[in-house]
Amino acid sequence: MALLPVIVAPDPRLKMISKPVAEVTDEIRELVADMFETMYDAPGIGLAAIQVGVQKRLLVLDVVGKGQEGEDPEPMAIINPEITWVSDDDNVYEEGCLSIPSHYADVVRPAEIKLSYLDLDGETQELSADGLLATCIQHEMDHLDGLLFVDHISALKRNMILRKLIKQKKMAS
Ligand code: NI
Repeated sequence: MALLPVIVAPDPRLKMISKPVAEVTDEIRELVADMFETMYDAPGIGLAAIQVGVQKRLLVLDVVGKGQEGEDPEPMAIINPEITWVSDDDNVYEEGCLSIPSHYADVVRPAEIKLSYLDLDGETQELSADGLLATCIQHEMDHLDGLLFVDHISALKRNMILRKLIKQKKMAS
């Protein structure tokens, strides 16, 4: 396993549309293992492949220990996810992102979702999610379509955060 460098916004790669995984191979499982290691090390509760520069519809997450009562404690790998249903009710969470370090904002999303996806054996799975898990899945799925949580907030606040990130990058280089 290996830690992978996480791409920080603004970066054109984070705007790319990720491509479906054609087949769940050992190479994919190895990437998932590296993504889990990278996510836990950060630490974060979710990571999409494009955040480590891999343009595939694949994400990992583990929201356990963040107030999610009764949820499956296993880390989850979600491949080629498709949302099949969203609730009319919304939830607001203060979101962060490993690609937007040290910045947070309230984001409104559907409170409950249903999705289908492939697991690490390439089997189709169905999942109902609410609470933080539902928010996290939607946040990570946004990455697969080139969106960040700041794309859900006002342009004023988004530009403020992006300007600060650019400044941080300049100071670091
Ligand atoms: Ni993110």
